[in-house]
Amino acid sequence: MTKSVESSIQVTSEFLKKQLPETFQSVSLGIICGSGLGGLVDTIDPSTKIEFAYKDIPGFAVSTVAGHAGKLVFGLLGESNVPTVFMVGRFHFYEGHTLQHCTFPVRVMKLLGVQSLIVTNACGSLNPEHKVGDIAVLNDHLSVPGMSGFSPLIGANLDSFGPRFPAVSDAYTYALRRIAFEAAFSIGWAEDDIREGVYAFVAGPSYETRAEARHLAIMGADVVGMSTVPEVIVARHSGIKVLGLSLITNAVVTARGKDAKKEVLQQLGRSTEVDSEIDTEKVIANHEEVLETSARRAAQMQQLVKKIADLISSS
Ligand code: 6GU
Repeated sequence: MTKSVESSIQVTSEFLKKQLPETFQSVSLGIICGSGLGGLVDTIDPSTKIEFAYKDIPGFAVSTVAGHAGKLVFGLLGESNVPTVFMVGRFHFYEGHTLQHCTFPVRVMKLLGVQSLIVTNACGSLNPEHKVGDIAVLNDHLSVPGMSGFSPLIGANLDSFGPRFPAVSDAYTYALRRIAFEAAFSIGWAEDDIREGVYAFVAGPSYETRAEARHLAIMGADVVGMSTVPEVIVARHSGIKVLGLSLITNAVVTARGKDAKKEVLQQLGRSTEVDSEIDTEKVIANHEEVLETSARRAAQMQQLVKKIADLISSS
């Protein structure tokens, strides 16, 4: 079983290497582009770019998200032309893929030479200080599925990649987090446009209830999303350094909101207690808002990632 998984990862990396020129025989940087952030690869010189549709890559799952077939792109990034492999579109647990399938590309990246991985995503924020459009640099995570038996490392350990019981207390590499802030401030971002915080991974696809959102906030999460953590765990298992960047696309509603019983009692003149002003039925999360914010901030996010790539390559 283990051998067959290891050999299919090997087969995929050989399949790619065979078709790649000398420049990409070893790529040191990997980037997973989250919702709306795939435009990064459009900024790359087409003459250096090589693309593989996921459907043509052995071992890759096929994305079920309509219109997002997904592709693996090789290109030279930033001023210093860093050889980079990009996943444009990722696999989510909520699509029905196993976490092993979701994270297969990360292990392929390891065999392609990746030493640092930048994972990006869209997320909701639980932290009232955050604004929609801010970027959060992840410094830790809470894996809600992980705590209830869903980890990409469940099953036989792939010893050639890493240990049975890997530490993840240092999941988000400190030096890379510093680089992210250095990059942001060097390209003129304001202090409040870039945050640092804890990402909660939930399976989705439904967004959080208000009670779940309060629960996550109490557990210590600043932001919440449906991706990234499985990829981070698999990357760390094999010793890849990780930087996590979350684009805050919406504020998550945590308010208790209107209390139906109080309102009825008030109308009956049996209570004078004032109820919450927030009509929680009017502030619901939706995918359109997520995509809108991603589109609005995509260019700045791309500029940031390029600067980060340059700083990583010179560090
Ligand atoms: Cl509010 N929740 C989750 N789980 N994922 C998100 C999100 C919210 N916004 C963007 N992605």
